[in-house]
Amino acid sequence: MSASLNITRPDDFHLHLRDGPVLRDVVAHSARRFARAIVMPNLNPPVTTTAAAFAYRARIVNSLPRHAKFQPLMTLYLTDDLPPDEIAQARASGHIYGVKLYPAGATTHSEAGVTDIRHCDATLEKMAELGIPLLVHGEVIDPAVDVFDREPVFIERVLAPLLRRLPTLKVVFEHITSRVAVDFVLGAGKNLAATLTPQHLLYNRNALLRDGIQPHYYCLPVLKRERDREALTRAAISGNPKFFLGTDSAPHARHLKESACGCAGIFNAHAAIELYAEAFEQAGALDKLEAFAAFHGADFYGLPRNRDRIALVKKSWTVPEAYAFGDHQVVPLRAGEAVSWSLAD
Ligand code: DOR
Ligand code: ZN
Repeated sequence: MSASLNITRPDDFHLHLRDGPVLRDVVAHSARRFARAIVMPNLNPPVTTTAAAFAYRARIVNSLPRHAKFQPLMTLYLTDDLPPDEIAQARASGHIYGVKLYPAGATTHSEAGVTDIRHCDATLEKMAELGIPLLVHGEVIDPAVDVFDREPVFIERVLAPLLRRLPTLKVVFEHITSRVAVDFVLGAGKNLAATLTPQHLLYNRNALLRDGIQPHYYCLPVLKRERDREALTRAAISGNPKFFLGTDSAPHARHLKESACGCAGIFNAHAAIELYAEAFEQAGALDKLEAFAAFHGADFYGLPRNRDRIALVKKSWTVPEAYAFGDHQVVPLRAGEAVSWSLAD
């Protein structure tokens, strides 16, 4: 008999669902696996008001497959001039779960992001007061800083000073990629947690340059060294509630990835929990998957833990070469290759 795993239904604490004609195709993958997801606000234009977040939420809910119970948890996009009043409104609405910091120019649709975090002090103080978490894309964009050092330098220049200025602000350091980031999270207070993606647990930067440039392994922050991957894996399987699941599934149409200037973002929602199961199994810690995937994030965000369950079986399947993506296609992580765990439904 093949091995199986029955766990509380997980949540995805970092997800890009996009908008428009692709939404229906994208959200179905997440809704099969996850109960809830923290939905990133980096649309074009970005989601900077509670009203815009509510409208986006309605579009997501209307795009769900019939009978799906998936709950989108909405976020706002921080800009240099997001007013503290908007935070008060967000809190009063009861449906905004975080505010996302994109350093301007750091990644996809970050043009409207923050040019200097000090411009946001009053808004961040309001967030600390009302208990709304700041969700951080932790990279500096200084051209003098090596692309592989952007995360450690962000900690030094932005995150550590911010946590000193606002010691009660809840912060999720999203998709951490380096040993330095793991150590920083471990050394910080309970108000700092971090999400980990399946790609950063399963791959190192060699995957980007295996027999040529591999655009479908390109995301930001970029994959790092093997020693970083090992540190992230140790954090994921440690049982420490500061570390939890956030896929950063970020679909782009195939032609925009397979291009002279390919977009950053890896689509993994088609096999997200299955890929985490692989990573935990490889590390000999399948027994630690449930808390990482279903308890730690909910606890950090003050959400009730899910009650229903999912079952996974150790049964290999081949990932399709592409999935529907509105009028285009999206190439998923592991396209044409095997994933060793399957969702049983
Ligand atoms: O690789 C990424 N893709 N990193 C991000 O931070 C944004 C995301 C996207 O929206 O495509
Ligand atoms: Zn993201």
